[in-house]
Amino acid sequence: MQVSQAVAARRSVRQFLDRPVDPALLRDLAVRAARAATGGNIQPWHIDIVQGDAIARLKAIMAGKIARGETETPGYDIYPREMGDEHRARTFAVGEAMYGHLGIPRDDKPARRAWFARNFAFFDAPAAYFCTVDRRMGPPQWADLGMYLQTLMLLAVEAGLATCPQECWAVYPETVETFLATPAQRMLFCAVAIGYEDIDHPVNRLRTDRAAEGEWLTMVK
Ligand SMILES: Cc1cc2nc3c(=O)[nH]c(=O)nc-3n(C[C@H](O)[C@H](O)[C@H](O)COP(=O)(O)O)c2cc1C
Repeated sequence: MQVSQAVAARRSVRQFLDRPVDPALLRDLAVRAARAATGGNIQPWHIDIVQGDAIARLKAIMAGKIARGETETPGYDIYPREMGDEHRARTFAVGEAMYGHLGIPRDDKPARRAWFARNFAFFDAPAAYFCTVDRRMGPPQWADLGMYLQTLMLLAVEAGLATCPQECWAVYPETVETFLATPAQRMLFCAVAIGYEDIDHPVNRLRTDRAAEGEWLTMVK
């Protein structure tokens, strides 16, 4: 597979098959993704792979928390408190498109909440990566995390796997950091659910668009 094919094929998948992924493959993808570029070769990420019994335990913990309505203080603002109209519109549009495929209308808040909670079962993925970072790192190093994660997701595509990056986990940092035994010096960025796509599930029919290049691209003369 060519890089351009993997880039075009990668998308966020939100229902996975009940089919395990070889732990050796999970590890291999994580290691190879570390070829991503980082400022000063600082490599600011730490990756925990959860699968098998571990992911089952975490899913059970989260199901209990959600059933009891327990919340935590988020580790960071997932979206900026103030956003430009164009950014807000894009986020709104992808949400509506996803719920459209699921047949969940805007006013059905319980159904939307229930769907959102599926994040915390990793959309039934058999494995996930958690990405944590030293709290002293700043925006440049957080950008490096993005390079790592995109590389990881492209390698997953090449291996016939699907992924969903998940920053929703930042809403439950204590639970995740306790579960992973993350040292206090590090904080959670996000998870990436990984597995084999359930191609028959309606949510996986979602194809996101991109803003017209005229909105964000300038050829400087
Ligand atoms: C850092 C990051 C965090 C994300 N967090 C979530 C999440 O918590 N739940 C979710 O369903 N999708 C999440 N997404 C997926 C985005 O919604 C998705 O990438 C975007 O809508 C574009 O769609 P595509 O990935 O299919 O191209 C996240 C994506 C990124 C890059």
